[in-house]
Amino acid sequence: PETSSHWRPLIGKHALVTAGPTHEPIDPVRYLGNRSSGLQGYAIASALADLGAQVTLISGPTSLLAPSSVSLIRVETAQEMEAAVMSSLPADIAVCTAAVADWRVADPVSSKIKKQAGSPPPSLVLEANPDILARISRPGPMRPTLVVGFAAETDDVEANAIAKRQRKGCDWIVANDVSTGTNVMGGTENKVILITEDGVEHWPLMAKTTLALNLARRIALRFGAPALA
Ligand code: CTP
Ligand code: CA
Repeated sequence: PETSSHWRPLIGKHALVTAGPTHEPIDPVRYLGNRSSGLQGYAIASALADLGAQVTLISGPTSLLAPSSVSLIRVETAQEMEAAVMSSLPADIAVCTAAVADWRVADPVSSKIKKQAGSPPPSLVLEANPDILARISRPGPMRPTLVVGFAAETDDVEANAIAKRQRKGCDWIVANDVSTGTNVMGGTENKVILITEDGVEHWPLMAKTTLALNLARRIALRFGAPALA
């Protein structure tokens, strides 16, 4: 049988992948962030490139080396990530794996905040960040043909993910089951539920790299590639 390195069904397609956390500055030395490692997004970018896609990887701060087969745009904040995504359109495929900070500090300061003896700790005033996935999912001429979102859920993962797909307006949602103690955020394995226009699939626990290959193949099939024998 043919190996995947010869099966290049996504040649001619542009895929945009967001990955990693965002860092929202408090002052020049401090930020709000989260535990995302970027591993899943980098693996998906690499898998899509292996299938022939031209890939733009828009990454928040991570310690990962970008695959040489993708164009990397590094950003810090959610607002920078949004600007980079918008200026990278048009794309046929968008996969939003980034753990975008939901809020940023309303008024980051340019000087380091110093402790002051006897003063209470400073308070942070937050404001909402733009929702990048919801924005690119909106109908219009620049909307990618296939928009895939991710969701980290606990409790009723399936119901939450189905609701999130509706709310965001994306085509597919890959829901991380973070309630099963599988150490998804920062770990190397992932257990997901894939929600598409055709229904709900429960995928078993697998390496993030394997999940990336499976998702990239699913995307290729969605674009009409014949399945591998
Ligand atoms: N996302 C995004 N921009 C944001 C927040 C989220 O693009 N400002 C994307 C993520 O990349 C992911 C999806 O939206 O693909 C879902 O993120 P998630 O944090 O699970 O959803 P939220 O709508 O932020 O809901 P909540 O955190 O309250 O569950
Ligand atoms: Ca969120």
